[in-house]
Amino acid sequence: MAGPIFHANDFVQTARTFPAYFENKLFIYEWMRDWFFVVTLDTNQQYVRAEQFMPQSQFSHPMDMIFASDGNMYLLEYGQQWKKQNQDARLNRISYVSGNRKPNAKLTADKVAGSAPLVVNLSAAGSVDYDGDTLEYQWAINGEPVANNQELGTFTFDENGEYIVELTVVDSAGQKDSSSLTIIVGNDAPEISITITPDSYKYSDNGVVSYTIEVFDEQDGTSENGSISAGDISVTFEYLSATALAETSAVGHQVSSKPKGQELTDKSDCRACHDIIRTVNGPSYQAIAAKYDETDVRFLVAKIINGGAGVWGDSAMSAHPQLPPEEVAAMVNYILSLDPNNIENKGLPLKGNVRFEKHLGQQKDGQYILRASYQDKGLTNSAIDTDSSRLTISEQIIFTANGKSE
Ligand code: HEC
Repeated sequence: MAGPIFHANDFVQTARTFPAYFENKLFIYEWMRDWFFVVTLDTNQQYVRAEQFMPQSQFSHPMDMIFASDGNMYLLEYGQQWKKQNQDARLNRISYVSGNRKPNAKLTADKVAGSAPLVVNLSAAGSVDYDGDTLEYQWAINGEPVANNQELGTFTFDENGEYIVELTVVDSAGQKDSSSLTIIVGNDAPEISITITPDSYKYSDNGVVSYTIEVFDEQDGTSENGSISAGDISVTFEYLSATALAETSAVGHQVSSKPKGQELTDKSDCRACHDIIRTVNGPSYQAIAAKYDETDVRFLVAKIINGGAGVWGDSAMSAHPQLPPEEVAAMVNYILSLDPNNIENKGLPLKGNVRFEKHLGQQKDGQYILRASYQDKGLTNSAIDTDSSRLTISEQIIFTANGKSE
């Protein structure tokens, strides 16, 4: 979409506006991909260059943009989903602020969950002030201020429950920023162990590895004695080519509790038109999973890449030619795993064999990932919402062609 062209002359009377740098530049933005660029044009209105605008900020489907008479930029954001009352729809004011800059609060904790009494070491050390001011630290737990003006804090939580710890940093001009995190007391994080025979991280053509997965959770029990049921543990084995791996590390190589396919789906534009249970512009993932099975993967991959309409109605799915087929296949597998009629459909058993055969016929440059994840039952017997206290842990073993794991 094309936004405005900035002319400082329009704002000579206002208290603040954008700097001269933006003079005669055109703002453009993309609804689906949530990016902005500032385009420099020459005197004949020909393209010279484009630079990203506010690349660190997250926007939610920018819809309309103006420079208002107060000199600020205003941006209407539609929200992630089509034709919905999106909670993330908003009117955003973007001001250029010169002079003192707001500090940036960063809060870290050595642990965020465990049994009571839980001793947590918190740190504000990652906070910064871009102007080099000395910062003042203010701490609060569940909204109650805690006397500690230090960069580090140790707090002991004696009672089960959910606690919100908030750090506020204040610079010498009084400008502040806050950051918070949630500590769950009374629920320990589950532990997962994966054992393999042979004990090697190297894959070979058609090689076979036997694996055993065990899950232990202080509150829920163990997978060994069945108090944690196998159906609640997700076990997957997948092959990622070097290209797919490069894509993953380009987005920061986060260790995520989500299966690969879910991560890719969440990160792509699918959410604009799809939801797990509701019909948005496109059908719900559950409806898709109920309609198709593994034999349809090839058809669905092609459909997502080429786009199309007619199966579920008149609305069309946009084409996705930029997505590599193996990633789309991971997305389709994730969507198919959501079949509401198939509760056991969580992937592999807790004990079994896997075979290295997905790389055959390709360059041996990728990795196999055997991954197990478990979401615990959360805090029970507590006034707080159990769902939000649930903890998910995943463990993985990475097999490479030369046996060197990360
Ligand atoms: C612009 C909206 C839009 C986006 C973005 C979108 N979809 Fe769709 N999707 C649709 C619509 C509409 C349909 C129904 C098409 C039809 O009836 O043939 C559909 C259908 C599907 C189907 C079932 C296809 C069939 O023929 O039954 C799958 C699977 C799917 N989408 C996955 C995805 C994935 C994965 C993404 C992200 C990479 C995505 N979609 C992005 C709108 C969209």
